[in-house]
Amino acid sequence: MAVADCAEDSKVGGGESLTAGRVVGALIAWDPLRRREVWRVEHEHLANGGTLATAGNLVFQGTGRAMLRAYRATDGKVLFEAPTGTGVVAPPITYELDGEQYVAVVAGLGGGMALASGSPPPETLATGNAGRVLAWKLGGTARLPEPEWTPRPVQPIEARLDPRRVEAGRKVFARFCSHCHGPFAISGGTIPDLRRSEPAVYDALPSIVLEGGKLAGGMPSFAGFLDSADVADLRQYLLSRRAALVAEEAKAAKATRAAKPAPTTHPR
Ligand code: HEC
Repeated sequence: MAVADCAEDSKVGGGESLTAGRVVGALIAWDPLRRREVWRVEHEHLANGGTLATAGNLVFQGTGRAMLRAYRATDGKVLFEAPTGTGVVAPPITYELDGEQYVAVVAGLGGGMALASGSPPPETLATGNAGRVLAWKLGGTARLPEPEWTPRPVQPIEARLDPRRVEAGRKVFARFCSHCHGPFAISGGTIPDLRRSEPAVYDALPSIVLEGGKLAGGMPSFAGFLDSADVADLRQYLLSRRAALVAEEAKAAKATRAAKPAPTTHPR
């Protein structure tokens, strides 16, 4: 369980993402005969799409930061880009219909890195990872709808936290939960962020974790692996991570207010 092990000795912690800003992605063009790299495009996010290369000297790729790009195959120059709403991991395809050429891609972040990175791209959060099949052709005019989803600030929950049980819960979480719900309970943006759950969810943990209460949505039952004492520790850990997020958001809001210039009045 690589992520969990990293989380154990990572120096980041304290609400910071395990990977944000440290592990990035790149599209690398490789010359197999000379066995060397020819060009490279750095990506801000670590999970990006597969590629499509065409005879017309183009390489298409979708990015984790919600763009479909066409690069010149010989040197990686960006020739075209268009927003995809959310991150892309699927490779684009191309096809011809009635004499017109199309490029299509499935937009939507998924897969192991999206689950476990703890580094959700802002575009994926803003759209709730809205999945779509998108297609382009020369002269096309369709536009993506603006995202409607706006994250609400997380509300504090009063709880008495015992540091020993928080620590015990952290260990259970790292072993059994982090590869889906993210390191330090920071979701990669594709399944619920357990720091932001509705307050009732923390009380429903025994039924969700031990009785398969959300099995239909893909949340496994841990009956036979965990018991009610483990779940009580998990509750303490998750509430401590929520409290850390409340504090982080309050600090960020304060910094934003401070950064705004004080209103000035000009006599007219
Ligand atoms: C295999 C991936 C996977 C693992 C491992 C996993 N979960 Fe989940 N979990 C999910 C999915 C998917 C959902 C969303 C279910 C739904 O929407 O109905 C979910 C939902 C939840 C929810 C409901 C959150 C909400 O706000 O509605 C809780 C609580 C939860 N998981 C706790 C845990 C805990 C605690 C562990 C570790 C013991 C864990 N999960 C391990 C996939 C996983």
